[in-house]
Amino acid sequence: MRHLLSIDDVTAEEIGAIFETAAEMHDVQRREVKKLPALRGRTVINLFFEDSTRTRSSFEIAGKWLSADVINLSAKGSSASKGESLRDTVLTVTAMGVDGLVIRHPASGAPAQVAQWLHESRGAVPVVNAGDGMHEHPTQALLDAYTLQRRLGSLEGRHVAIVGDLTHSRVFRSNVKSLAKLGASVTVVAPPTLMPSGVAGWSKEAGFATSYDLDAVLAGANGRVDAVMMLRVQRERMSGGYFPSAREYAVGYGLTRDRLARLEPDTPILHPGPMNRGLEISPEAADAVASLVLDQVSAGVAVRMSVLYHLLAGEE
Ligand code: NCD
Repeated sequence: MRHLLSIDDVTAEEIGAIFETAAEMHDVQRREVKKLPALRGRTVINLFFEDSTRTRSSFEIAGKWLSADVINLSAKGSSASKGESLRDTVLTVTAMGVDGLVIRHPASGAPAQVAQWLHESRGAVPVVNAGDGMHEHPTQALLDAYTLQRRLGSLEGRHVAIVGDLTHSRVFRSNVKSLAKLGASVTVVAPPTLMPSGVAGWSKEAGFATSYDLDAVLAGANGRVDAVMMLRVQRERMSGGYFPSAREYAVGYGLTRDRLARLEPDTPILHPGPMNRGLEISPEAADAVASLVLDQVSAGVAVRMSVLYHLLAGEE
């Protein structure tokens, strides 16, 4: 693994190794003194061209707990807002001597393009995709699987329902790949307007099922559901009306109090955040005993520590 641009970059074995290291990092998180010397003397730049709360701060904490020097740069407040091209911005910051680059960008494929430019000009600077447009968000999928695996044990043969705004979701696109690699089966559920076009062929190839009927899926139409992952309705990426009203969306596709009551009480509930409470997820579901939302956040630091460690110091 030279970069982590997509879940395609990691094999099931490598995911296993990332999880093993993450479990050790997770223990560090519970210590009073959280620093490890693993990346001392290394510099990591977080380049965020899109808003973020947990992804950005968890990459920052992850780098700092590994003793790397971490610099955060966002589009607002950098020369990108003065018209500098992405290529110039990236070559400028890497010319300062950085050892790793974490990038979030609204354009699908931007991190891969950045990795390509860096190969052409500076040799191997590992690049981590922290979410690119509607393409992928590999560290999110890894932390989701890590969280679920800690709760359920092996994911082999487990069935996960991924529900919501699939069209705009990079979390879904990375998760169907990682869950398949770990042996889980997946059913994705969305209203027809938020089901990505071309999903029929892709789902066949990638081996996941699709449905428009959340109640049927939760009732076991595709087999007992072992975990439910709710996705945010991404209004900032929507130009037209994808559903008549928030209320209709919640009634059709939200994890409402009613649907929660029909789940086995210990069925894990995931959401990558930020949550629209009352839209895709009810407060009762978000705060349920079986909700793993905050476990995902804390796993996010451990998994990102592990990914940075494997990419920047893995061979030592
Ligand atoms: C996700 C993202 O940014 O893709 N959030 C996250 O990284 N925690 C999902 C979302 O924004 O809905």
